[in-house]
Amino acid sequence: MSFTVAIDGPAAAGKGTISKAVAALFGFAHLDTGLLYRAVAAKVLAGADPVDAARTLDPIDLENDALRTPAVAQAASEVAVMPEVRLALEAFQRDFARRGAGAVLDGRDIGTVICPDAEVKLFVTASSACRAQRRFQELTSKGMEITFETVLADVKARDDRDRNRATAPLVPAGDAVMLDTSDLSIDAAVARAIEIIAAKRG
Ligand code: DC
Repeated sequence: MSFTVAIDGPAAAGKGTISKAVAALFGFAHLDTGLLYRAVAAKVLAGADPVDAARTLDPIDLENDALRTPAVAQAASEVAVMPEVRLALEAFQRDFARRGAGAVLDGRDIGTVICPDAEVKLFVTASSACRAQRRFQELTSKGMEITFETVLADVKARDDRDRNRATAPLVPAGDAVMLDTSDLSIDAAVARAIEIIAAKRG
């Protein structure tokens, strides 16, 4: 029987780290759905039509380090506003969610739109300053020259667009468990997520 864990939340709240750790521990497959929007955005930045790019997306397109840049992140948030782009990416995500051994999907609308029947729903948050600090450290450790203020402004702009779009906005599902990671270490946040999932698995 399939078992789906939906992990939603804003950028750099800790969804990715938690999702990877949980997937490894429970033996679940993991899909970072933000990568789908980033891959579409990268094609759009290279001149493609957004809807065509989403319809013809190949899983191989997700394996690209260039998808991790701030420019692609902003463009991803922009293409993610388009209902036809979202629709074109739905079936792939739903199929992934019902894989045999279980699956973890992280994103913005997994618990609300993609997998409203997910067995576990987590909504991971943290203050915008805290999230910007984490993203700033991640980018500068890769050698990128960027200021904290720029990263904070990017995070806020993306939050604003993701929360206020008409289709599938970033909002917690009514039955999601909230997990604020502002004052938690990575280990503590992962441990809390594992506790919540283990309790639902029985
Ligand atoms: O998780 P991320 O930062 O890689 O996501 C990049 C953008 O993609 C994000 O700002 C909004 C969009 N996105 C979305 O609309 N729905 C998802 N399920 C995942 C990402």
